[in-house]
Amino acid sequence: MTKNKSNTNDYFNCMSYLSQYWPEECENSKVWQENRWLLKCYIEVAKILNKDKQAGKGFQALEISTGPTLAPLIPFLELLDSIQLSDYSPTNRKILRTIDINYWKKYIVAVLKLENKKKNSTSVKRRLALLDNFRKQKILDVDIKAEKPFPDLVNYEKFNLFIMHFVADSITENKREYYDILKKVLKMLNPSNHLIMSSLIDCKTWDDGVSKYPSPKLSIKEIETFLLKNNFDIKFAKQSHIEHGVGLDGGMGVILAQKKASI
Ligand SMILES: C[S@@+](CC[C@H](N)C(=O)[O-])C[C@H]1O[C@@H](n2cnc3c(N)ncnc32)[C@H](O)[C@@H]1O
Repeated sequence: MTKNKSNTNDYFNCMSYLSQYWPEECENSKVWQENRWLLKCYIEVAKILNKDKQAGKGFQALEISTGPTLAPLIPFLELLDSIQLSDYSPTNRKILRTIDINYWKKYIVAVLKLENKKKNSTSVKRRLALLDNFRKQKILDVDIKAEKPFPDLVNYEKFNLFIMHFVADSITENKREYYDILKKVLKMLNPSNHLIMSSLIDCKTWDDGVSKYPSPKLSIKEIETFLLKNNFDIKFAKQSHIEHGVGLDGGMGVILAQKKASI
């Protein structure tokens, strides 16, 4: 496996990953079928969380490894009081901070369409400004395999929403390694906190357009079972019927889980 990485500390080729999975021309891209499915799941998850928001609960989110990718946040923007972005790779953190924010404009228009909301220049500008504001704040360095994943974070208490899209499942070779990481993430959450997670499903490999990487061939049912055993309720779980996505030898799933309130 040859890794043509942009920085020796990067996990993969960040620009190649971005253009393969989240190209600027969103609805005209060959990966749109998958991204449309993901964004529709995130919209459904946002609707579930919106009930808590309506009940007066704001969300302070921590995203574990955002990658170079801001599109998955678009359905959640109006729900968040704050979000702390992070990534393992210095190049991803730089892309997040410096990319022209208009790169994500077509995704905002597409999400508004999927939400059946009015897509006028005010609604697009509003979400673009929220997205720009969130990504301008300090982006943390994270190594989820390390004993202390976030060296700059004192505690996780200030967050009540944890987000992790295609991370533990994309950086592990076997299930033992995957569940060790997931367990570490679950420990960050307090009772009633939520976890939104996307995962490769039935996948042994995925690629960034340059190199191939392993994935532990997870099933959505086994992830759900693990979450239930670890004191979480499942509020949303869906698996895509797309069997071989662009760059993948399998499919994808999205889960929203909530840690049970302490008795
Ligand atoms: C498949 S990408 C997912 C990125 C983004 N969340 C998305 O959905 O597009 C996997 C991410 O995990 C990050 N990563 C690699 N090794 C890591 C580690 N040890 N700890 C935390 N993140 C890591 C990579 O930098 C990359 O951003």
